[in-house]
Amino acid sequence: MAASGGGPEAPHRPVLLFETVRLLAPERGGLFVDATLGLGGHSEAILEASAGTRVLGIDRDREALRLASERLERFGPRLRAVHANFGDIERVMREAGEHEASGILADLGVSSLQFDTPERGFSFREDAPLDMRMDAEGEEETAAQLLERLPEEEIARVIYEYGEERKSRRIARWIVERRERGEAIKTTGELAQLVARAVGNKRGDRIHPATRTFQALRIAVNRELEGLSEFIETAIALLQPQGRLAVISFHSLEDRIVKRALRRLSGRCECDPRSPVCVCGARRVVEILTRRPVTANEQEVEENPRARSAKLRACLKL
Ligand SMILES: C[S@@+](CC[C@H](N)C(=O)[O-])C[C@H]1O[C@@H](n2cnc3c(N)ncnc32)[C@H](O)[C@@H]1O
Repeated sequence: MAASGGGPEAPHRPVLLFETVRLLAPERGGLFVDATLGLGGHSEAILEASAGTRVLGIDRDREALRLASERLERFGPRLRAVHANFGDIERVMREAGEHEASGILADLGVSSLQFDTPERGFSFREDAPLDMRMDAEGEEETAAQLLERLPEEEIARVIYEYGEERKSRRIARWIVERRERGEAIKTTGELAQLVARAVGNKRGDRIHPATRTFQALRIAVNRELEGLSEFIETAIALLQPQGRLAVISFHSLEDRIVKRALRRLSGRCECDPRSPVCVCGARRVVEILTRRPVTANEQEVEENPRARSAKLRACLKL
């Protein structure tokens, strides 16, 4: 995913590629589910690691599936690409005739394809329709429609919670005032300008003032945090013993969900210490392979600014 930074000139590079492949250990062979196929960078490395691997790639972006399938064509039937939400991983595997995986990967968030295609509306670098849907051909609401429909309080909540933006109320007020004048926001440029004016651009700011608002809207439009914890539980259930799960997240809200889910599945009780019995459902089904999240080194960040906020966590099913 890209929070910001990295321009169209930045080539597509899978984040934390070496570390992800090391933790997934594809040399063991078998089925690997790439729950976020994207442009297929991680899958390519998994398929190259051993002739005994197969990849079932899932993505909700049809354009990404087309491009990844082209890129990985040389692997023939060892790759199958399916249009789905990774929340449906169990069904996708069942329909593909698979019941266990050797490894599962989720590299969350936005791909460079999505971020760098102005018409997809993820970025404010160019003025384009405010869309932000990962499944651009799907039925979901666009970011512009969301801003037209949601009450002011709800817009403020989304921007505060998902963007960790302190001036969320002010931004929401400006958006709604504009809407009430009959000038609903339709483009990325209009939103970026409005936010910049609402919050002011302090000198020395490292990021554009609209970065947090854009991140928040993208998370809301694509419901990125919903079901992440359940996905991890299901993925573990679908792994064979000694199978591995790797998850790369790009902001603290996502990483917190991943960290908590893995902790719980490693048997660490998260209940209030005063609670006489455990109610959080902790049970020891995995061993955590990353005591601390793996992050990109300076060189990778320099070569690929998108790696800056990446955090990789992995576990082994017992
Ligand atoms: C960061 S990119 C993956 C990049 C990929 N690892 C590579 O090397 O090219 C994330 C991808 O996950 C997809 N995605 C995000 N959330 C998803 C979900 N809930 N279900 C299916 N695909 C999702 C996005 O459409 C995007 O293509």
